[in-house]
Amino acid sequence: MDFRKHLNTWLWQVLCVFSLGWWGCFSGQLHYTLTEESEPGTFIGHVANDLGFNAEQISERRLKLGSEESRRYFVIGFENGELLLNEKIDRESLCGFTSSCLLPVELITEKPLELFHFTVEVLDINDNSPHFLNNDRLIKIAELATPGLRFPLENAVDQDVGSNAVSSYEMSPSHYFSLNVKHLKDGKLLPELVLENALDREEISEHHLILTAVDGGQPSRSGTTKITVLVLDNNDNPPTFDQPVYKTSLPENIMPGTLLIKLNATDVDEGPNGDIEYSFEDHTLKSVGRLFKLDPHTGEIFAEGNIDFEENSFYEMYVRAKDKGVPIMEGHCLIQVEIQDSNDNAPEVVVSSLETSIPENTPLGTVVGLFNIIDRDSGKNGKVTLKIPAGLPFTFRSFENHYSLITDGILDRETMPQYVIHLVAADLGSPPMYTERTIVLNISDVNDNPPIFSHHSFTAYIHENNAPGILLCTLFATDADEEENSQLKFSLSETFVAGSPISSYIYINENTGNVYAQRSFNYEFLQLLEATVFVEDGGSPKLKSNATLYIFILDQNDNHPKILYPALNREPTEHQRIPRPVSSGYLVTKVTAVDADSGYNAWLSYSILEASDPSMFRVVPHTGEIRMIRTLRESDDSTYTIVVLVKDNGQPALSSTATIFVSFEEIVQDETPKSQDYQTSHREPSDITLYLIISLAAVGSVSIITFTVLIVKCLRAKTRSICRCTGEPEVNDFQCHYQPTLQLNSDGTLKYMEVKTLTRPTNQCYSTCLSPALERTDFTFLRPLDFPQLKDILNDEDSLSMNSEFGEIIQVRKLVQRTYC
Ligand SMILES: *[C@@H]1O[C@H](CO)[C@@H](O)[C@H](O)[C@H]1NC(C)=O
Repeated sequence: MDFRKHLNTWLWQVLCVFSLGWWGCFSGQLHYTLTEESEPGTFIGHVANDLGFNAEQISERRLKLGSEESRRYFVIGFENGELLLNEKIDRESLCGFTSSCLLPVELITEKPLELFHFTVEVLDINDNSPHFLNNDRLIKIAELATPGLRFPLENAVDQDVGSNAVSSYEMSPSHYFSLNVKHLKDGKLLPELVLENALDREEISEHHLILTAVDGGQPSRSGTTKITVLVLDNNDNPPTFDQPVYKTSLPENIMPGTLLIKLNATDVDEGPNGDIEYSFEDHTLKSVGRLFKLDPHTGEIFAEGNIDFEENSFYEMYVRAKDKGVPIMEGHCLIQVEIQDSNDNAPEVVVSSLETSIPENTPLGTVVGLFNIIDRDSGKNGKVTLKIPAGLPFTFRSFENHYSLITDGILDRETMPQYVIHLVAADLGSPPMYTERTIVLNISDVNDNPPIFSHHSFTAYIHENNAPGILLCTLFATDADEEENSQLKFSLSETFVAGSPISSYIYINENTGNVYAQRSFNYEFLQLLEATVFVEDGGSPKLKSNATLYIFILDQNDNHPKILYPALNREPTEHQRIPRPVSSGYLVTKVTAVDADSGYNAWLSYSILEASDPSMFRVVPHTGEIRMIRTLRESDDSTYTIVVLVKDNGQPALSSTATIFVSFEEIVQDETPKSQDYQTSHREPSDITLYLIISLAAVGSVSIITFTVLIVKCLRAKTRSICRCTGEPEVNDFQCHYQPTLQLNSDGTLKYMEVKTLTRPTNQCYSTCLSPALERTDFTFLRPLDFPQLKDILNDEDSLSMNSEFGEIIQVRKLVQRTYC
């Protein structure tokens, strides 16, 4: 047995790396040889080692043979990567007379998918002897034939090739005949019998000769045939062909009945002696007789059967022309017919391997499928190109008839989850033949898209004193990936609000995104809750996004007005002492109250609930000033009790009462009034007044600046949208949100200001209120907003957002309006 590896592995690997790239790795450089008729299990080559795989890679890359033919004849050792023979090979039946018998072998490896191509050459052994189709050949020669005449003899056939084929002829020695061997152009030998000396029938009428064909094998084999020469009595002329050998060609698939050639033999004799009849010689192959018809009279040869180039591309016909004389004389010729290929076979696309699903982040140039093209035609008719439609992120690399489909662009499952690719294989024949093949490639998901909230921020409104557990808002997010890569989980950032973790205020259902109140909110304690919410997917690694959640707590009228003056903790009967005389309109005192609520809920009005003498006093409804209705008369009592009702404007309204005891007294010189302010209307301007004017001017200019800044800010806040979340209470369009700010001066006067935000489309009002016990001066204090969160909101254009569930955008324009209370 003869195992040789033609190219050394090292050289092959160098070629692989430097000149051809990985594709060159199956460029056929790897070549093994095998002798025919070897026993199954014969070692052919250590393929895995020659391809440069180590022991670990051999089992990991799962080597397997690609084509069916490869698997029929060979096996690859799973553990060691050795190529072994699977089935005994008879070179003659596999390759016929072809001089080199090459078997292509395809090897496929996984991880990555690669195709390697190499060849196994089957070497001939001299296992066939030359033989003749006819064991007996009769040749008739006229007695007077001139020496030098030649008679073609049948050539012997040997199934072996090369040196094992017929290499020489020998003939038994004879005085009259010699053997001449003609070397034909195709390498064949044609034996001819040559007449050496004149025959004498009377001496020998029949000559018996033995022709031996010998092949060149070691040891050589041979075959013999008998030749009988009959010496004829009559002197006649044999028919003669124009040419000893005719060469012609014929396209395959020709219509039956097509004329191939017209033979022309002539016989100079007359009568029956010159009447020629044509026939195939006995040793013409039987298949020739089936495919061609010879007209015995005209010498025309017609195509008859289906002539297939793929079956046989070359025919030889031995034709004999006989005359009808006595004795019969013969002429001989050889016709060689070459069959021309025509494009009658469509290419075949064989999928050697194909991935069904590839991840979307597959790098460029990854092999995803291997194809093999087979076209039984030869030459251009067998040259095939495999095309893929343009515009797909895939392309082909090819080597001979092997194609690998590789990625050539960015794959994105979100835009194209599946490719249905129509491949077209076309040969170069004219007209070309096509084969279409459709393959389907699924793109599998990779977690490459983070979840996205529907909005940058979510806003919810909730009236204070809500029931714990109420639904505030639903967060909504999407993820373009699929399955667990798009499974969303909502969560809340861990921050603290007024010393408590935010999770004690609100709770997020991590699956639905519903946001619930964890407790009952109190507007007076907290007006706005701001939280960062997260959404993450279930991919690996997880991707995450965040958004801001604003929960506005809306005021309810849950606080009673609080009486600041007269103080509740004073002596129960402490009287308001008023010096006589007292005229009508005199300011007796002023009830001062505040309400912790906002807006209308804190807008207080005063009325007299009960008085000892209702005709004596009135209260100014919005200031709480108690004034004399009429002048105090001598006859009137000196002490009175007035009960003032302080009521807010909420729905329903809440109220408180203040009781004032008044006593009118004669002026006592050394008694000074409790507060100078009560008498300012009758005083001359004093130094105090001057100071007051100066401080008033200073405070006034500060307020103008502040106010201007606020106007500018409000004008910048052009368009605002509000999103209503699920479960949000209706917002009254005309409800104002007040920001109460109180300041109690050292002299007992109280200043406070409210910033009122109207949700009416075009209004925002800043209500500036002053309620000191001063009679003739209105102080206007404008204080900046007191709730830092809310201030941020007003500055932040994006903070008010839409709620996707309602799809509703309420635009809120803010206009600054100044009111005095
Ligand atoms: C929210 O997302 C932005 C950008 O995506 C990032 O810069 C910021 O750090 C995130 N905030 C938190 C609290 O994770």
